[in-house]
Amino acid sequence: MSRNGEVELLKKQAALEAVALVEDGMIVGLGTGSTASYAIEALAQRVKGGLKIQGIPTSRRTAEQAERLGIVLTDFSMHRLIDLTIDGADEVEVRSLNVIKGLGGALLREKIVAAASKKLIIVVDERKMVDRLASHTPVPVEVIPFGWQVTAERLANFDCQPKLRLNEKGEPFISDGGHYILDCAFKPIDRPAELAQQLDTIIGVVEIGLFIGLAKLVITAKETGVEFLSCK
Ligand code: 5RP
Repeated sequence: MSRNGEVELLKKQAALEAVALVEDGMIVGLGTGSTASYAIEALAQRVKGGLKIQGIPTSRRTAEQAERLGIVLTDFSMHRLIDLTIDGADEVEVRSLNVIKGLGGALLREKIVAAASKKLIIVVDERKMVDRLASHTPVPVEVIPFGWQVTAERLANFDCQPKLRLNEKGEPFISDGGHYILDCAFKPIDRPAELAQQLDTIIGVVEIGLFIGLAKLVITAKETGVEFLSCK
């Protein structure tokens, strides 16, 4: 099997383990990205088998997939608290379970859903586990389009070379919330909670892709087996 095929299998394994933790009657947060999409497929299978849940999607893309597969959707007008959310991540810091999210562009809704969840389960393959965040991926920062150049300059003071994310047509990528995304290439981050607090104060920043203290369980599929890491 190709390396890509192996990685897809690992993502599926992690997703399946998380979906096994969903119980009847739960309100379930539905993540975004390729790993989360395997979880939605598996959840839909369980729904076909009689499981009764309602999902709150973290993106339009996820909402479309879930509806197509027969998962009943709900929203925050009906439920303020989510029992369990299953989502992917771009990087997970092993010692803290802090994560980077947002390469798929859904970080704002993902963070709102994560923060409203009793339990956030992150599902990843082993390539995502790092000693320090920003080892391999930039930190996505969602910003208001108006004056984004000024916001980018403020972010650049943190030595991270913000880059406006573009779509396949070469135009600015627009998030579900109607915002731009600046991908910020930090050097590996020593104190992510401190950095997150500082970035949050920049005017024009809507949300940052550093998820601090939100993940309760990280399920990592490795070639040697599946690992469960809980937050202490
Ligand atoms: C989307 C995300 C995704 O969860 C993250 O990018 C991981 O995606 P994938 O499972 O496809 O690697 O944060 O905004």
